[in-house]
Amino acid sequence: MDKLLLIDDEVDVQYSFRRIFDSPELELHTASSGEEGLRLIPKIKPDLVLSDIRMAGLNGLETLRRIRQLDPKLPVILMTAYGTTQTAIEAMKLGAYDYLLKPFDVPKLKVLVANALKAARDMKQAVSLQPMLEAEDYDVGVIGRSERMQEVFKLVGQTAATDATVLITGESGTGKELVARAIYHHSRRVDRAFLAINCAAIPENLLESELFGHEKGAFTGAAMQRIGKFEQCDKGTLFLDEIGDMSPTTQTKILRVLQNGTFERVGGNETIKADVRVIAATNKPLEEAVAAKQFREDLFYRLNVVRIQLPPLRERRDDIRLLVDYFLRKLAGPGGKPKSMGQATLSSLEAYHWPGNVRELENVLRRAMVVAKGAAILPADLPMEVMAATLAARPAAMETSPSAPAPAASSTPSAPLDLPGIARALFRFARADPKLKVLPAVERELVIEALKETKGNQVQAAKLLGITRATLRKRVDKFGIRQELAVH
Ligand SMILES: Nc1ncnc2c1ncn2[C@@H]1O[C@H](COP(=O)(O)OP(=O)(O)OP(=O)(O)O)[C@@H](O)[C@H]1O
Ligand SMILES: [Mg+2]
Repeated sequence: MDKLLLIDDEVDVQYSFRRIFDSPELELHTASSGEEGLRLIPKIKPDLVLSDIRMAGLNGLETLRRIRQLDPKLPVILMTAYGTTQTAIEAMKLGAYDYLLKPFDVPKLKVLVANALKAARDMKQAVSLQPMLEAEDYDVGVIGRSERMQEVFKLVGQTAATDATVLITGESGTGKELVARAIYHHSRRVDRAFLAINCAAIPENLLESELFGHEKGAFTGAAMQRIGKFEQCDKGTLFLDEIGDMSPTTQTKILRVLQNGTFERVGGNETIKADVRVIAATNKPLEEAVAAKQFREDLFYRLNVVRIQLPPLRERRDDIRLLVDYFLRKLAGPGGKPKSMGQATLSSLEAYHWPGNVRELENVLRRAMVVAKGAAILPADLPMEVMAATLAARPAAMETSPSAPAPAASSTPSAPLDLPGIARALFRFARADPKLKVLPAVERELVIEALKETKGNQVQAAKLLGITRATLRKRVDKFGIRQELAVH
């Protein structure tokens, strides 16, 4: 549960916050003055503080300054009426997470609070390289014992102690963000801020201003000065995610800040110094972008000082068992009993090619936990595309208990059907088992399943298979399926 501390002397504001943040996942505490807020912080240990600027006694800025002494990482959002934005800008320079103008735009407030809470979690939740899998209260960890992951751990260890720029590459869902957080948590900057920016999620024309800030009137819509992430994150670590998509101007500015730690705000002349460690990540092949002249070569080399290339999950299949164990514990929650998994189910997870990598594995397990009726996850609890791997591994079908329902015909699959992936999974089995005749085996299994699914109704089964009823009959005869169905 996240804890939020609101410091505001206005009862009305406290009241509306209670209504806006009335959620079981949030615990809202209130203080009516800066002094009271400072007293409460060590007691309740909030994840986020929202403070008014103009208050009797300690004002918001002074409160922020003292919060920074207590805890340099605790995110603080300052709130201010329109007239006092200059103070809010001062606050950003002091390391406030952001500021909000009163009266609040509620949806904006909620997004900001959600983002700040994520930042707080990133900073607080240590990411270990050797998590204690046995512990009741599992650690957040980068799981993997494969050789490829050992290489990754070695690099994380070597770079963590330095301020070197790191470039993390790898397919989507391979753990780039997780590894970035692991580096931060092992670095000497761990007691300072860690801010993550998804460069692809911010419109190109706004990214430069988001990173470096802008002066009032720098462009249409720049009604007031803004402090950028580099300035805000001084002495901290900035995680530039999806670095592949950036305008040439932004690239030039990043290169300069990496080279000599200086930049100017958009539309400004003042040269600003920032001591920021940059960790960058991308799932795009940056080398190709460089060759196509979309990405500056000098910036690429500057980012590429240390390169951590995360392997796709299908290239470290020996880690799947470990990851399954980890996620089943994690999904069960502290004190919960993790579901078990038999060898057949595990084998299909190990056979599948995981285009969405570890994230996809976690999602498949999350879904399977919900679908599974008993204490164990069965092959039937896995999505269609993963089931196809089960289909190829013939013994796996034995684990399907008769009571396990087939997936409802109306439920839409969670991911687009990946036929090439299914084919590749089947070929892997074919290579391991020379007796397996892939095409007839698949055909036979499809006919059986279609008939089971339609309770033996040949018209419906033929429709499901996309063939005529006559063709279906021929297949039933050819494969001698009648007896087989009678057994079931
Ligand atoms: N080695 C690992 N051990 C445990 N969990 C992992 C591992 N790798 C990834 N995960 C989990 O998988 C999910 C996806 O990881 P992450 O967000 O770091 O991927 P990513 O490479 O940044 O993906 P994208 O390119 O789509 O942003 C997260 O929930 C993360 O915790
Ligand atoms: Mg990511």
